[in-house]
Amino acid sequence: MLDRINPKGTKAWKALENHYDEMVYVEIKALFAEQPDRFAKFSMIFGDVLVDYSKNIITDKTLSLLLNLARETGIWDGIRSMFDGEKINETEDRAVLHVALRNLSNDPIFVDGENVMPAVNKVMKQLEKFTNALHSGEWKGYSGKKITDIVNIGIGGSDLGPVMVTEALKPYWVDGINMHFVSNIDGTHIAETFKQIDPETSLFIIASKSFTTQETMTNALSAKEWFLANGGKEEQVAKHFVAVSTNEKDVKAFGIDTANMFEFWDWVGGRFSLSSAIGLPIACAIGYDNFKSLQKGMHEMDVHFKTVPLEKNIPVILAVIGIWYTNFMGAETEAILPYDQYMHRFAAYFQQGNMESNGKSVDRAGNPIEYQTGPIIWGEPGTNGQHAFYQLIHQGTRLVPCDFIAPAISHNPLGKHHEILMSNFFAQTEALMAGMTEEEVREDLKNSGKSAEEINRLVPFKVFDGNRPTNSILVKKLTPETLGNLIAMYEHKIFTQGYIWNIFSFDQWGVQLGKLLANKILPELENSDKVSSHDGSTNGLINAYKAIRK
Ligand code: F6P
Repeated sequence: MLDRINPKGTKAWKALENHYDEMVYVEIKALFAEQPDRFAKFSMIFGDVLVDYSKNIITDKTLSLLLNLARETGIWDGIRSMFDGEKINETEDRAVLHVALRNLSNDPIFVDGENVMPAVNKVMKQLEKFTNALHSGEWKGYSGKKITDIVNIGIGGSDLGPVMVTEALKPYWVDGINMHFVSNIDGTHIAETFKQIDPETSLFIIASKSFTTQETMTNALSAKEWFLANGGKEEQVAKHFVAVSTNEKDVKAFGIDTANMFEFWDWVGGRFSLSSAIGLPIACAIGYDNFKSLQKGMHEMDVHFKTVPLEKNIPVILAVIGIWYTNFMGAETEAILPYDQYMHRFAAYFQQGNMESNGKSVDRAGNPIEYQTGPIIWGEPGTNGQHAFYQLIHQGTRLVPCDFIAPAISHNPLGKHHEILMSNFFAQTEALMAGMTEEEVREDLKNSGKSAEEINRLVPFKVFDGNRPTNSILVKKLTPETLGNLIAMYEHKIFTQGYIWNIFSFDQWGVQLGKLLANKILPELENSDKVSSHDGSTNGLINAYKAIRK
């Protein structure tokens, strides 16, 4: 059982509250002036990843108090409990062992007294065999043609990870394979996909941990109907449909040969499942060896997280800095801003990873919480975001801590594109920190020939306060391994924060209510009777919808 330590009751929390008063007017640029070695002190190198957290409103004291908070809440016990396979997802009575999926050391990890590694390795072998057969053309469609199109049908954790990684690693795609992802229950998603594929050369991966998710099962049935209506026969379904699930019974009932089912286990949370068999579409896209490199990168970060002292532990440092802003400085959101077009789904992926994990308001003892927990996660690639929402980050009233991520070497060295991209990457974090003083604005306006009157009028609007905190994460190149490092880094940041906040990060009861209500409403939409069983607004909307459809 995990500890139930209220972080607000710790000495460190009180000290941090007092420390806030010392820090509230501190300027990051002044900290750089005072501390010439600040960059060296507040940055770390992990393999090909450089993490610079020096542009934060923190001092040595801030960090040391934050790490005390981690210690006082028992972070090492939490980390050990997870890696040891204890059932830390207590409300579902499950272990949390995504780290076992990429445990390339193969050291035993036990759940209920059983080493899970042989089962993990067996599924990986199955994945390897399948992907190789697909790429060599040994696995053929019903008419003897090679498979060219993979359609992953899944949602949430059974979609976002594979989408994010296959997009991020496009330069590694195996020739002759096209990837499609269908998640939305809106028929448009699958209908548009059908327009791009041929039943003879398409393979559907039905990815669902539970194999009961309404969206996935509805899309899977529509895919099967489309296959049968367009030349496929019932006995050929096995060549074109495989499943990734923990639910063998329902996979069988759907008509998928369980020989083509890739298993995972209840100790793999959906949003942490991309290194499990849920990664099958990733292996199909980039090849099994590259999938293993991705796992290697994740494993390296797992080992770092488990073994490196808190002061040098990258996920822990990022986690406690996030806590500083969320709990003491009043930030409500965090932006993830990759300066890499291939990473365009990275923020969306960690939106689920973070918000579904730490969006909780009850602590591990079942009591309402009196402090903020998970921040709102959002973001888009730079430089696009610069021309859309950065205005608010620079000059708005809210504090938005940002993570900037960029590769030093581009996969597409085209003209000066990468230099221009990177100049923006460096400029934005500098501008966010430095801002522009009244004096600088006046000088600037004077140099552009403005009159004294115009200058006075414009000054208040052109002053940037600055002091907006950022982390900069510079990777050598976006490879399967470095991407693996980054994914595991954020996963463990989420774990650390949830642990310190004394919440259960690995359940998601909040998403159930909407599902229950949708199931109740669905039959009401199937007739023309007026409804009156809901609140006034919901009744009004349903009745208006029915009137339109009459
Ligand atoms: O509704 C939330 C959720 O349960 C997520 O946690 C999960 O990733 C997603 O639905 C899909 O679930 P499944 O893989 O069981 O279809």
